[in-house]
Amino acid sequence: MATILVSEVIADRGLDILRGAGHEVRVSLDLSPEELLQAVQDVHAIIIRSATKVTAEVIANAPHLIVVGRAGIGLDNVDVEAATKAGVMVVNAPQSNIISAAEHTMALLLSLSRQIPQAHASLTSGTWARSKFEGVELYGKTLGIVGLGRIGALVAQRALAFGMTLIAYDPYISQERAKKMGVELTSLAELVGSADFVTIHLPKSKETKGLIGKELLAQVKPGIRFVNAARGGIIDEDALYAAIVEGTVAGAALDVFETEPPTGSPLLTLDSVVVTPHLGASTEEAQNKAGITIAEQVQLALANEFVPFA
Ligand code: NAD
Ligand code: MLT
Repeated sequence: MATILVSEVIADRGLDILRGAGHEVRVSLDLSPEELLQAVQDVHAIIIRSATKVTAEVIANAPHLIVVGRAGIGLDNVDVEAATKAGVMVVNAPQSNIISAAEHTMALLLSLSRQIPQAHASLTSGTWARSKFEGVELYGKTLGIVGLGRIGALVAQRALAFGMTLIAYDPYISQERAKKMGVELTSLAELVGSADFVTIHLPKSKETKGLIGKELLAQVKPGIRFVNAARGGIIDEDALYAAIVEGTVAGAALDVFETEPPTGSPLLTLDSVVVTPHLGASTEEAQNKAGITIAEQVQLALANEFVPFA
């Protein structure tokens, strides 16, 4: 039977599957990078979410490692190339939290357009300030979707129901496929030049890091608002801060940050910025799906059986 390190919280139902199969499951949360290097030395599997960095050094320190299981979607915290070279399988749960992430995006869009967190904080601190919190409607506005994959498509469906006009930038999607979703494909420069709201749904990679930077932010439609529930750093945070302070960008809603937690980030000091602590996948439903899926995938990998696309 195998030894499995679980370094972040996953649903109990996932842990039950692994224990039920006879594996030793070690749940060790909040490990420092040094503690992680120690903890992986005798394990056959590691199960993580987005906070644990499975670097080439971690993989080199784990001579018995067979599989890394990511209970969620993004694999930017795993050195997949180093894992592959070492013969270690990397599996994830790509469908598990897409609805939750899309719903959180809509929550951020509405929070941003109606200043709900700011108004809540104002009222609970004793101020009844109706005129201060005048918002804007989503109806009739143009939403630019950057990345029209699984989550981008679910956001498109939901935004159509709000009466928004949809445009998207995704070089890997055909115009026909986009049209079926009610979306017009454009270049990224055209998108930021004509959208009232932009929402990011890209994986973080060498190509997408800093994709929305100073140069692009200089070409935006004045008053544009950004939502990022994908990965921190796809929008350059310094450039975004400068654009909001200058007034070209009217606001942003951010679930993800270049460094998490974003301690000391000047973005947190701006009234027009709404933030959540990487909550896109934090629902009961998504966590159950992610925990169960990843447990099943890891169990198959450990049994040396075919691991189907989840
Ligand atoms: P997906 O793979 O289904 O879609 C990503 C889309 O991005 C694809 O259509 C792809 O063609 C496009 N793309 C890739 N590289 C690109 C590039 N260089 N330029 C333009 N487009 C590019 O992924 P998804 O399920 O929609 O998830 C997107 C990301 O959202 C994940 O990678 C993850 O990092 C993030 N995510 C965050 C949360 C959260 O808790 N905030 C939850 C789930 C997912
Ligand atoms: C993901 O990529 O699935 C998200 O970041 C959610 C998470 O891991 O919590």
